[in-house]
Amino acid sequence: MSADAGKFITLEGIEGSGKSTLAGALGQALRARGLAVQLTREPGGTPLAERLRTLLLEHGEEPIGARSEMLLMFAARAVHLDNLIRPALRGGTWVVCDRFTDATRAYQGSGRGVSGELIEQLAEMVHGDLWPDRTLLLDLPVEQGLARARRRSASTDRFEDEDRRFHERVRAGYLKIADAEPQRVRILDAMAPAELLARRALEALADLWGD
Ligand code: TMP
Repeated sequence: MSADAGKFITLEGIEGSGKSTLAGALGQALRARGLAVQLTREPGGTPLAERLRTLLLEHGEEPIGARSEMLLMFAARAVHLDNLIRPALRGGTWVVCDRFTDATRAYQGSGRGVSGELIEQLAEMVHGDLWPDRTLLLDLPVEQGLARARRRSASTDRFEDEDRRFHERVRAGYLKIADAEPQRVRILDAMAPAELLARRALEALADLWGD
């Protein structure tokens, strides 16, 4: 990407961590700084990738194995990168994406036990060295996250239906990534009130605007 390319920001965390609310607030704050911003999400973000999202989240008629699930996540990601993320960044637009490959590492890797090596190979194939400029990890206890997610909607998807131990492994997986890549991944306390969380998030991005 050229020097005037947009920045790529991702939001990560377990269910109910408040990523969507924060994405909205970040979008507003970045636009107020005069930046072009595209909010998007994974799996999904383009019409075709959103169709893959539906298949991945719904309780379909047949089981999806852990490896198949990972491959479908990367298939949706490849479409999203080609048709939305790369063109936006090249055009100078900042992309704020709700989840990316760290979610595959945490959910399919730590949660489901898919080989980390395999995930890294797929990541290399699908996006090479295009990693987020910054990742905000919204961390909170699993119990609080799941309670919030259940308050938000009456029906649960395939991931929300997993037991507490699964979500504990996902949370631990995320914290391990943050520990390994402290420059890119910043941990934010997702239990903080929304306004404070948004302020902290902007502080964690402050070095990216370069003024
Ligand atoms: P969302 O509910 O935060 O929009 O995310 C949809 C679900 O997809 C969430 O439960 C996490 C899961 N997911 C994975 O398991 N692996 C991935 O790579 C991504 C992007 C999401």
